[in-house]
Amino acid sequence: MEATQQYIAGSKEKFLNELMDFLKIPSISADPAYSDAVHQTAEFVANQLKNIGLDAVEICQTAGYPVVYGEKMIDENLPTVLVYGHYDVQPADPIDLWTNPPFEPVIKTTPIHPQGAIFARGACDDKGQAFMHVKAVEAMLASGELTCNVKFMIEGEEEVGSENLAIFVNENVDRLKADIILVSDTGMLANDVPSITTGLRGLSYVEVEVTGPNRDLHSGLYGGCVANPINILTTMIASMHDENRKITIPGFYDKVIELSAEERAEMAKAPFSHEKYCEALDIETTFGETGYSTMERGSIRPTLDVNGIWGGYTGEGAKTVIPSKAYAKISMRLVPDQNPDEITNLFQTHFEKIAPQGVKVKVKPHHGGEAAVTPIDSIGYKAAALAYESTFGKKPIPVRSGGSIPIVAMFEKVLGLKTILMGFGLDSDAIHSPNEHYGLFNFYRGIETIPYFYKHFAELSKE
Ligand code: BES
Ligand code: MN
Ligand code: MN
Repeated sequence: MEATQQYIAGSKEKFLNELMDFLKIPSISADPAYSDAVHQTAEFVANQLKNIGLDAVEICQTAGYPVVYGEKMIDENLPTVLVYGHYDVQPADPIDLWTNPPFEPVIKTTPIHPQGAIFARGACDDKGQAFMHVKAVEAMLASGELTCNVKFMIEGEEEVGSENLAIFVNENVDRLKADIILVSDTGMLANDVPSITTGLRGLSYVEVEVTGPNRDLHSGLYGGCVANPINILTTMIASMHDENRKITIPGFYDKVIELSAEERAEMAKAPFSHEKYCEALDIETTFGETGYSTMERGSIRPTLDVNGIWGGYTGEGAKTVIPSKAYAKISMRLVPDQNPDEITNLFQTHFEKIAPQGVKVKVKPHHGGEAAVTPIDSIGYKAAALAYESTFGKKPIPVRSGGSIPIVAMFEKVLGLKTILMGFGLDSDAIHSPNEHYGLFNFYRGIETIPYFYKHFAELSKE
């Protein structure tokens, strides 16, 4: 990998400039106003794949945004790595809280990134991370050191649920034939504490509507006489956690796999500072389910959280009104073996049951997905661990993440393939938030580490 590493060392500026161009296109998949930009971003990715020398590059149209495909098949006897990433990003709002415009990337240093970080929407999630794979393969191809066949599948709808990707994968099982899936769309513990993500939570997401009277009412004339949908909705939501912060929906925990004492002890070995955690968030203390550590609450335990709530008058000054309707968006993060459709049904049944007389309720399910876990005794995991050792000089720690990438479980079902999650972001990189950024250290270290995965995966596959 000598030549590959030299190529990377000599291309740092070029790689960074190209990433900047990638970040400048506002590929917000959730907002139809950005549709042209999302398509333009797919073209950018396709051009990149062509320029680094991949074959069969194609912008594959779907009912939504395209999937960009490209491959380099060097020898049918070698193993094949399927790289997945996403070129779409989250909306940038609240825009006022950004210190630079979200699609005009700038490099700034932070206490955690003394060597500089690139600030832009998508810098870490996932343009910066997906781009590391493009550049790592460029380096291996240019140096004649690619040791596996490689296929790229970069989609444009991850942040909105990957519905069309699921269709694409089902229709392209042959084209996507591979031995392992490689993804950088997660994080690691710290820049000096490398870790590999071995689990992702699933997701069930619902929107609820509570309707009281048929129109907004004067809160003096009608106050105290009719059910106020906001009062009712907040009471219903509050009742969904008990005094131990356990979720009260009947059956919610039935399929949850509890970890053994050994597994929990192993997890507890990962470094975690309660003090630093609170300090970074400016909170006095953490909050959550009794009997579990913060690390556990955020990874191996399911949750129920309101993501947004609205209704009534929220403008300037006071308006005395009892609203006709109240709404909330609620996410439930799931763990193995909870099934998202089942959980959505349990939620719906419960929500309808606890609604008092005098209001009508509606539950609208959104996208969801299953949790996923990766075994650490597979050759994929071993190859990744050896790769981190080569560049970080220490063994990575296996860590289960609280985030969700629903297509990982789908890949396993449809393609029969496990995914290795080599994420290089940090929790403090503010993904989905204002001032999202990605450390230059992380970007370059990722590009340097990925080639070693190919080397070790090829070697371990021979044995
Ligand atoms: N890359 C994230 C998921 C992630 C981030 C996992 C950090 C682990 C660590 C992904 O783009 C994402 O945001 N997923 C969504 C779910 C999706 C269905 C919109 C999420 O987790 O909220
Ligand atoms: Mn992502
Ligand atoms: Mn995301």
